[in-house]
Amino acid sequence: MDPSELNIPPMKDLTIDNITENTILINSQSPDQRLTYVMERLVTHLHDFARETRLSTSEWMAALNFLVKVGQISSDVRHEFILLSDILGLSLLVDAIDHPKPASSTEGSVLGPFHTHNPPSISNGSSMSSDPAGEPCLVICTVSDQAGTPIADVKIDIWETDSSGHYDVQYADLQSPDGRCVMTSDENGMFYFKAIVPVPYPIPHDGPVGQLLKLLKRHPWRPAHMHFMFEKEGWDHLITALYIRNDPYETSDAVFGVKQSLVVDFTTVDAARAKKYGVKEGTKLLKHDFVLVGKEETMKLRDENALKAMEKLGRRVKLIDHLPVPDLD
Ligand code: BEZ
Ligand code: FE
Repeated sequence: MDPSELNIPPMKDLTIDNITENTILINSQSPDQRLTYVMERLVTHLHDFARETRLSTSEWMAALNFLVKVGQISSDVRHEFILLSDILGLSLLVDAIDHPKPASSTEGSVLGPFHTHNPPSISNGSSMSSDPAGEPCLVICTVSDQAGTPIADVKIDIWETDSSGHYDVQYADLQSPDGRCVMTSDENGMFYFKAIVPVPYPIPHDGPVGQLLKLLKRHPWRPAHMHFMFEKEGWDHLITALYIRNDPYETSDAVFGVKQSLVVDFTTVDAARAKKYGVKEGTKLLKHDFVLVGKEETMKLRDENALKAMEKLGRRVKLIDHLPVPDLD
């Protein structure tokens, strides 16, 4: 670009006090109002952070080198940046902002880095784990709307670790997916499957995120849980997990995913159910009813929350594609 075409004042001799406004100015030439707004807020917070902490050159370099290491250890099956976002509480925050939930619906939780896009499809009653060392369990669920009406044909991704606390993708010699599946709710909104009782496990901590946790004197453990992801056209995408009550890490999850409404109890399968579902009497049983929210309702709630939050911050905004941008009209 010819610098004479730039529609901005000359930038020279910038100082601690005017570098921010000038950076924002040169970043403001895109017709994309959302990009301009996001960059403006990012630069403002980033510069304020440096000013407020009196960031040293060596700290700045340490942070950049840390990010390089986060990138270098990442691969198709290792998402260290998701992990970083998780331990900083950003993942949970973004989910709460983007997928607000009315009180009567199922709350969301962190996605984590171990969801994959190639799980085997299984039908009701099948098993999603082949780990012989795991304690077998039967999981019986329904999915409905807030009025209790069953929702059929919902695609549900389910994933959990094996009994040693590892996801299938963490094994270098993995032959085929295990501990994960995709199911479809039946005409009664039901889906049920055999699995193993989840165990607590540490998030991968042999990389830069683990080093950071150690420096912060934080443990890397997640309480025992099973992940669920629900998708159906017209319904808000739900990413959640069920957490097993009384886990030692229930109140100190390394990635902040636990919500009281997602903490569940196992009971045991009685004789009648054992016969019906083809499992041994006394097998652990997990029953849960999930509640989805319509996409329209979620969008409305999201918009309302956004406008309220902006008003609280004293910002005049309008929404474009449900995302705030400054209202300059
Ligand atoms: C998980 O539950 O799979 C997970 C979530 C966040 C970080 C690491 C793992
Ligand atoms: Fe997990």
